[in-house]
Order: sequence, then structure tokens, then C-alpha cells
Amino acid sequence: MEKKEKILVTSALPYANGPIHLGHIAGAYLNADIYVRYQRLKQRDVVFICGTDEHGAAITLLADKLGKHPKEIVDYYYKDHKETFEKFGISFDIFSRTTEPVHYETSQEFFLSLYNKSYLNERTIKQLYCPNDKRFLPDRYVEGTCPHCGNPGARGDQCEKCGKWIDPLSLKEPRCMICGTTPEVRETTHLYLDLRKFQDRLRAWLDTKTHWKDNVRNFCYGWLNEGLEERAVTRDLDWGVPVPLKGYEGKVLYVWIDAPIGYISATKKWAEQIGDPERWRHYWQDEATKLVHFIGKDNIVFHAIVWPAVLMAQDHYILPFDIPANEFLNIEGRKISTSKNYAIWVREYLEKFPPDPMRYVIASTMPENKDSDFSWRDFQTRVNAELADILGNFINRTLTFVRKNYDGRVPERHELTEDDRRMLALIEAWPQKVGEALEAYEIRKATRTFMDLAREANKYFNDAEPWRTFKEDRLRCDTALNISLQLCKALAVIMSPFLPFSAQKLWQMLNLDGDVERQHWDTTGAEPLQPGHQLGKPEILFRKYDDDVIEEEIQKLERIARQIEGEPVSVDEPKDAKSEEKTVAQEDLISIDDFGKVQLRVARVESAQKVEGADRLLQLQIDLGGEKRQIIAGIAQHYSPEEMVGKQIIVVANLKPAKIRGLESQGMLLAATDDSGKLCVLVPEKDMQPGAKVR
Ligand code: 2FM
Ligand code: ZN
Repeated sequence: MEKKEKILVTSALPYANGPIHLGHIAGAYLNADIYVRYQRLKQRDVVFICGTDEHGAAITLLADKLGKHPKEIVDYYYKDHKETFEKFGISFDIFSRTTEPVHYETSQEFFLSLYNKSYLNERTIKQLYCPNDKRFLPDRYVEGTCPHCGNPGARGDQCEKCGKWIDPLSLKEPRCMICGTTPEVRETTHLYLDLRKFQDRLRAWLDTKTHWKDNVRNFCYGWLNEGLEERAVTRDLDWGVPVPLKGYEGKVLYVWIDAPIGYISATKKWAEQIGDPERWRHYWQDEATKLVHFIGKDNIVFHAIVWPAVLMAQDHYILPFDIPANEFLNIEGRKISTSKNYAIWVREYLEKFPPDPMRYVIASTMPENKDSDFSWRDFQTRVNAELADILGNFINRTLTFVRKNYDGRVPERHELTEDDRRMLALIEAWPQKVGEALEAYEIRKATRTFMDLAREANKYFNDAEPWRTFKEDRLRCDTALNISLQLCKALAVIMSPFLPFSAQKLWQMLNLDGDVERQHWDTTGAEPLQPGHQLGKPEILFRKYDDDVIEEEIQKLERIARQIEGEPVSVDEPKDAKSEEKTVAQEDLISIDDFGKVQLRVARVESAQKVEGADRLLQLQIDLGGEKRQIIAGIAQHYSPEEMVGKQIIVVANLKPAKIRGLESQGMLLAATDDSGKLCVLVPEKDMQPGAKVR
């Protein structure tokens, strides 16, 4: 019998010091979840591991700030993260924590093994000490100016701007993060991991990783080429895994040493929970296991250099097979900032919206190879025009047609046309097509590909015209609906890694047994639905979002962005979409004189560019016939600057100038929007002279 492939998948352990936001989801959780759900459907032996990272300065600093014990903080966020991930459908086999006793034991065992094999060197060093707080200031406890790039907000461990590790003593103008005092220098003793001893082994190992993403591999070669150095792996903190050595009382392991060991301790915990305590070895201590770490790009060095070195120093542990690190997700063209509250918090999102639409949008725009952007307009377009209008529409029209005309029973399949045969072939071929992209962690491509099947299905349904053939050619109609239902079944399986909640709903609407996530990826969709099978009740799978719902979310973020920039927050600009009534009420009627007050003119766009920091705005220079003007238009998500140049547009020429994002707008262009979020700029039907009047 073919040996089942073993895959151990981990997502970076999030710090238990703040809620989960969309950047987390796009970095290391949704991609991992889609991958794992797919592997489960392939019936592979896969375990999905995560948990909270509960040590380190990230946690203690927050506790200090709030005047609480770190334990209170991590207990709160452990629960918060666990619930948030569950509700969002991130299907970990275990969500553990690094304060579990098994984690302390495992970390200390690893540490002692490093020590006993002489990979740790004791050094007495000078360190920053706050005389006011009477404590050493490790890692984030001190901030100052980066000696490498001049970033004034560099932390004591790493500069977020240039990515370099920092010796805190080299920080310029250092200050204590608790009280702001300028620290003094004192001596303390620490253990250093001698990474130099791993340099050659790491390089040889990396040389075999030709299948890795370029960003990850090149980053590692960069480190190796610079030459690895010793790194301190202990800290003067009272919160963490205690250093298990005499003379080190009151010191703990550096969080980045114990955190990845959390992957192992969590697997042990999982093994215990399933009643097979030794089962963790089956993954961690068997060369046949593929260990895949999903992380964000800021975690690369720890996973691809330090962690493999720690593993190499142990006996019988496997090394990572792949580390598909993602880049960062921006929101509405701006970097996420948790400290400034510029983020979309998943828990808040889930209070208003279901998980699947966001899963779909993030899967479609994942920052796989470069940073990407989430915007609520794009969310609206993708949900309304793709999930609802393509996928949902196909499923709904098929199921309601069969319910209405066939009593909800699967009709027979008769003689096949070329189109029918083509669709059946697509059903057979599609799992592999989507699967290939997923095996390569190309989630965006996989998402696009799965939606293409729904596109094909919709077209098939249209071309088959069952509403006509039902009366004119019943056998044709039966066959087309039989195949459309088959497509629904295939879609349920194929969409389930991406849209697990909707897929299960569809499975139930098809009145099929069990759970869709327990089916077989390769065959289930193609296994014919039996003629006569009674279907369940059709329901709408995806609802559309109106402008006002989306606008509210945009406004929320814009308000925060303006606060960050220190701009006054105005309440009336841009206008509230809710006030835009679709039908004109009697009291809204205006006279011809009223209309005459508005001067509409044809203009030609001479140049266009994006407005920095505002991804909805374009800055246009226009020719109004003997007069040049500048207008700022909120169309950047629908038109590129290139598309606008040379276009003739209609503008309101006598509008009072307004300042938008500090730029003067001398007029307004006319555009139409509809419920799906589509927007089009109004243009004259023939080429006109700039300045021509519109009446
Ligand atoms: O960057 C972070 O959020 C870390 N807590 C990730 C840790 S990943 C693993 F090593 F535990
Ligand atoms: Zn201080």
C-alpha cells in the first residue's frame, strides 16, 4: 500500500498581547488553513499546530503598562485568539500555549542539550539598565535610533525598518520604554548560542531548498553571506521559561528560543489529547514528515536560521521542509498599525459579517510575493460580483429550478451533447488544477481557478436555457440540470478549503450525507448524484453588500487615518452614501431654474496621478477649454491614471473649490455607481471641444 504522506503544518504562534487582525490572517493563518483543509481532503496524514506565544517583552511590556500580571494578559488573549480563529474557520488540530508545563519541560530539555553539546557560550556583557525602574532593559524595553538606518523608533532587539538585529548598546539616544529615562550601562552574564558552528551545515541545507520561495531563500543567503554570529539566548526577566542552570536563577530563555519549541510542545499536547501521547514522534522524529511553517516575513530569520540550528543540535528531529513566508497586507493603502489602532480586527469583523466572504477576499489578494492591499471597495466588488453573482447565483438558480420543476429531485442524465461532455470533463479535471496551485502554496491562483469553475458553470447553465427546454425539449433540460447539480456537488468539495461554512451549507442543500470536509478531493465531486435523489431546501449562500455598509467601514478607517495624521476629523466629507436615495421623492423635485444653476461642461483629462496615502483618490489636471483646472476624484479604485489620460469627462464647473487631503479640487466629475459597487465615469458620446456646455 502506498505510504500516506505525512505533513506537519504550523502557523506562527501569535503573541498573546493583542487581538487578531487581518494582517495576521493574511500572513500565516488563512493560507495555512486552506492548505491544510485541502490536504485533509486529499486524505493525507496532516496535523495543524498553533498556539499563543506567551513570553517575551511583547507581553511583559503590556502587562507593565496596564499594571497587571503577565498571566492575566496571556489568559485573556489566549481565549480571545482561540475563539477568533475558531469563528473564522481556522481549523487547527490544537491551539496550545507556551505557558503549558509540557512547553517548559521541552524548552528546558532543548536548552540543556544545546548547553551540554557546547553550543552555548557564557559571556559577561554590558547591558542597558534603568536606574529608575531598577531593572535591565532587554529587547523592546528600550528604544532609540537605529545605528544602521537612522530609524528613530528602533527597538532594542531589531529595527523594524531595516530588519537588522541590533546590539542595544549601539542604539543612539536610548530610552527606557517604561519610564523614558536614559538608561545606564551595567554588567550581566548571559548565554550565547554560537551560530557560527552551524554556518556550514545551514548553508548546505539551504542549498537543497530549491523549491522555497525566492524571498525566503534569498533572505537566508543574505544572512549567511554576512556570516553568522553568537546570539544571546537568555534574558534578565522574571517572565518566561527559567534557565535550567545553576547560577542563572532569575533569568529566562529568550522568547525566540522557546517560541518555535512551542510547535513541538503543542504537538505533544495534541498527542495527549487524542489519547496517543507518543504520537508526536511520528511527525517530529520521522524523516518522512514534511514540516511546513507558515509565517510572516518578519519571522524568516528565526524560522530559517536560528530554529533549524536549534533542531540540528538535537538528536533525531526533522528540519523544516518549507517556510512559505508571506509579505504584509496593507489596509486601504496604508500600513497596519496595531498601536495606532489602524487595523481590521477579526473579532469586530465577525460581529457584523460572516467569515467566508472575508476568507474569499483575503485568499484572492494574499500578499504572497509582495505586499498587497485590502480595500473595502474591493471586498464589496469581489463579494457582490464574484461570490454572489457567479458562484451563489449558479447554485441558487440550479437548486431553485430543480425544486420548482422537478420537485427537488435530481433528474436523469440522457444523451450527452458536446457541451455536457466538456462540463463533465472539467468536473474531473478541476480538483487537480486547483490542487496543483495549493501544493505550491499559490492560494491566490487556486482561488481564481476554483472560481473559474463557477464561471464555466454559469455559462453552461445560460447556454443550456433550461427555462426554454423544459417545455420544448424535456430530455435536454433533464440532462442539463443533472449536470448542473453535479457541478454544485463538485463545487461544494472544491470550495470547501476556501469557504468551509458555505461549502457545508451547500452540502446540506444537496442533502448529502456527512460533512463535506470529510470527502475525497479527487473523486467525490465527480461521483454522480443519483437520479431521483431528493435535494434539500435552497438558501441564498452569499448576500450582497450595499454601499452604505461598505462606506461605514471605510469611514471608520479614514477617521483613524486622519487622527494618525493629526488632521481634524470632519463628519460630512466624504458624503454618507446612506443619504443617497435611489428613488426621487416628491419633495426632492427641483425646478428648471435650480438645475440651471449647475454649470456642467465637457473637459479633457490632460494628466492624472494617484494621491499619495489615499488609495481612492486620483489627482486630475483637466482642460476646460481655455482654462486648466485640477480636480481630485474618488475613482482610483476603478480607473488607473493611465486610463484617465485623454478621456473626455463631464464636470461641474461652478462648484466651490474644496481641499481634499490638502489638495485643491476645482470642480467635480460626474460618475455613476450601482449596487454592485461598480463605478463608471460619464463621458460625452462623441468627441467634443473642451468647455462644451452640457444641458
Ligand atoms: O511575531 C510573532 O508574532 C511571534 N510571536 C511569532 C512566533 S512564531 C513561533 F516561533 F512561535
Ligand atoms: Zn525606566
